[in-house]
Amino acid sequence: MTDISREELDGIYAFAVQLGKDAGRMLQEAANLRMGAAHASREQKEHVQKENAVDLVTETDEDVEAFIKTAITQKFPSHKFVGEESYSKGASRDYLIDDSPTWCVDPLDGTVNYIHLFPMFCVSIAFLWKGRPLVGVINAPFLEQFFSACEGRGAWLNEERRLPLVREPVPPMPAKAPSGCIFSCEWGKDRRDSPDSNLHRKVESFVNMASEVGGRQGGGGMVHGIRSLGSATLDLAYVAMGSFDIWWEGGCWEWDVAAGIAILLEAGGLATTANPPYPNEETAPIEEVRLGSRAYLAIRPAGGSPTETGRQSQERTVREVWKRVRNLDYTRPGA
Ligand code: IPD
Repeated sequence: MTDISREELDGIYAFAVQLGKDAGRMLQEAANLRMGAAHASREQKEHVQKENAVDLVTETDEDVEAFIKTAITQKFPSHKFVGEESYSKGASRDYLIDDSPTWCVDPLDGTVNYIHLFPMFCVSIAFLWKGRPLVGVINAPFLEQFFSACEGRGAWLNEERRLPLVREPVPPMPAKAPSGCIFSCEWGKDRRDSPDSNLHRKVESFVNMASEVGGRQGGGGMVHGIRSLGSATLDLAYVAMGSFDIWWEGGCWEWDVAAGIAILLEAGGLATTANPPYPNEETAPIEEVRLGSRAYLAIRPAGGSPTETGRQSQERTVREVWKRVRNLDYTRPGA
């Protein structure tokens, strides 16, 4: 436990849960409107581009962020607020989270999904203390899935089912991981088509993870399947559930992962960097995830076996993933 009091943290958690419910309702109402007849005449105005043709913002992103920001500022005037849409409008691309009590919010993660009415969209709210995400709330209203966690209070689906879903006992990572795992990843928004671009590095890594054992000059991972939800924070929630075994991603931002990481860690998962340490990927310590690093690797909660602890099996899986993925390049100031 950190030096914030239990009572204070529980109060913040209760507030975040209610905020996630209210904001999720706003998202669903906006989605319902989009399914109504009045929508057709508004379609052209519905989203605008940010950095490129796949980096989009809708009125809903902005309305929900304004609602969340106002609620937080009224309740906790001294807390800092970092939200996707306010940040995107600023000139800085620096990592702004420091030791102060901070809320890190994505009002609509999976904006492209929302635009296409693919159900994997959600609001994602995290509270951080000394840079650590201690509270996470994710509400995916179309899926009727509400994830919540607070340090020391467990991680939950719909406030009733504790994560991971399979927990008596929590299974160890497969002995031959990544073989036998579901690997999740995202294509992301960097679509440059040069041979050494992040897009090409990702695709090569995905193929390595999917290929048969013995393929790819010995690098074939033979995973059970590859999934991309189109929402980084939901990917992390699915790793916390144990539905995904591994999530590997580069290019998203702190608001895309903060709540998901809080939930994953509280469920017993591991979060670290997507990029293998050089030159000692076999032996270097597994660093704790850096929220602003834009390169993430998450492993589901794992129980022990007669030969390993759960943590050892997670670390073994991290190193097996690192052997098969390319380094991603998403450098930024201050992270
Ligand atoms: C995006 C999603 C996506 C990830 C992108 C994010 P947004 O967030 O999380 O899965 O690949 O990097 O930017 O824009 O929908 O809030």
